[in-house]
Amino acid sequence: MIQDKTDAIIVAAGSGSRLGYSLPKAFVPLGEKPLLYYSVLKYTSHPSVSSVILVVSSSMLESANAFLEDHPQFKNSTIITEGGDERWKSVRNGVHVSQAEWVLIHDAARPFITDEVIDSVIQKRECYDSVITATPEVDTIRTFRGDIMGTTLDRSQVVRVGTPQLFRRTLLSESFSEPSLMDPPPTDEAALMERKGVTIGFAWGDPLNFKITTPSDMQIAEALIERDKKMFMGR
Ligand code: CTP
Ligand code: MG
Repeated sequence: MIQDKTDAIIVAAGSGSRLGYSLPKAFVPLGEKPLLYYSVLKYTSHPSVSSVILVVSSSMLESANAFLEDHPQFKNSTIITEGGDERWKSVRNGVHVSQAEWVLIHDAARPFITDEVIDSVIQKRECYDSVITATPEVDTIRTFRGDIMGTTLDRSQVVRVGTPQLFRRTLLSESFSEPSLMDPPPTDEAALMERKGVTIGFAWGDPLNFKITTPSDMQIAEALIERDKKMFMGR
């Protein structure tokens, strides 16, 4: 194990069914680059990140390799590996490639990750083996059943969970092979840690680091990229 090192695992193996393109979501163009470009750029240039492990579906391995050929600045610090048919399997495959002490898991579908958010998660390593990012909930949240409204939840008690999420690698890696923790399959890795009884710390994320899920998210992302074009291009 490489002490104190942190690898970033960018999961990009989903199909993007809710976005509705024939191309998998991470490869859909955003401001003339595939969506995954933005998170690969951020993590390969972050001083605390050793390697980026880019997880793509088997059908996109060739395209991912071509992407690295087109972007030689990412090549030395990026490893491509194959994902699975569920998000947790893609994370597991990425984690198995890493040899670092810590892993940061990030959704390729969140192109607007900032150095500040990455730094604030990494800082929490001093206190926790498992750290997630979250943003405040701003809407009124209610339960419902059918077309009948239930109760309003206390907004001050809930947050929106995002990525990056940081874990001590061996802890996460071992959890994936513990059958009692894997049934039912976890919705995210923090859920696995919770089942294991590990305290989950959190750092505030940035609402602009939202996940592109639907066509309207893509429209918002296009507008933001247009605004930031000068910052991203020419690197
Ligand atoms: N992901 C993955 N492997 C999967 C499923 C998802 O690596 N089998 C990744 C996606 O590529 C994405 C992130 O996990 O970067 C968050 O998932 P989501 O937004 O749900 O993406 P998709 O699963 O691709 O989209 P959808 O659920 O609409 O099909
Ligand atoms: Mg999905």
